[in-house]
Amino acid sequence: MADKVVRVADLWKYYDGDSQNGVEALRGVNIEIARGEVVALFGKSGSGKSTLLNLIAGLDRPTKGFIEVNGKDLRMLDETRRTRMRRTEIGFVFQFFNLISTLTAFENVHLSSELAKKADRAKTKEILASVGLAGMENRYPHELSGGEQQRVAIARAIIKEPLLVLADEPTGNLDTQTGTHILELLTSRCREGKMSLLMATHTPLASEFADRILTMVDGVIREEFVTDQPRP
Ligand SMILES: Nc1ncnc2c1ncn2[C@@H]1O[C@H](COP(=O)(O)OP(=O)(O)OP(=O)(O)O)[C@@H](O)[C@H]1O
Ligand SMILES: [Mg+2]
Repeated sequence: MADKVVRVADLWKYYDGDSQNGVEALRGVNIEIARGEVVALFGKSGSGKSTLLNLIAGLDRPTKGFIEVNGKDLRMLDETRRTRMRRTEIGFVFQFFNLISTLTAFENVHLSSELAKKADRAKTKEILASVGLAGMENRYPHELSGGEQQRVAIARAIIKEPLLVLADEPTGNLDTQTGTHILELLTSRCREGKMSLLMATHTPLASEFADRILTMVDGVIREEFVTDQPRP
């Protein structure tokens, strides 16, 4: 296994608009994430955080630059292999959850473990309980609050025990107490060295849990701050 779970070098992303409105969302990003590391990515709206997460997840392709996840150069993977990697090695928490509306909370989470070939119904139930959703397993997304949907999305990302979780504003809809609990849950897996976490966030709370804080400004990482987060 590679000691760096993520390596990104000179990454550029240009979104085509009409001739006046193209956007350079990323303008030469470099970042490395070690095994077990928790990295918080701050930055104003539109600075490029979601774009970076999407590219690392292989959901979109860069205009230019290098992305390696767990030792694999994404450029070398065809669509089938990328999909397999997303299903087994990466957990993704979308900014707007992206739950499947026709599946219950349980089914949304369970499907993720089935796709990773790690399905276990008892474990799905347990993980939903760990994010505070015991008793809500059979509800559909529209029967859940925003914060509850967010927690289904988090359960869905971690159920498959991925090597890397990319979380886009994972606590945006949660009150401080629930947000703290979720961050504890996510980061405890990193402290055990089983997972690395890159989270895009606006929440100051996240910095209390991060080993490293990055700030993105206009498509580049401008500041890097290493915290002295105690490790148990
Ligand atoms: N699919 C797209 N097509 C065109 N432009 C896009 C697309 N996605 C993002 N952009 C643009 O790229 C820039 C970066 O957007 P991005 O979503 O990465 O920002 P962000 O930091 O995640 O913002 P927020 O904090 O609001 O979520 C913005 O100017 C945005 O309008
Ligand atoms: Mg975003």
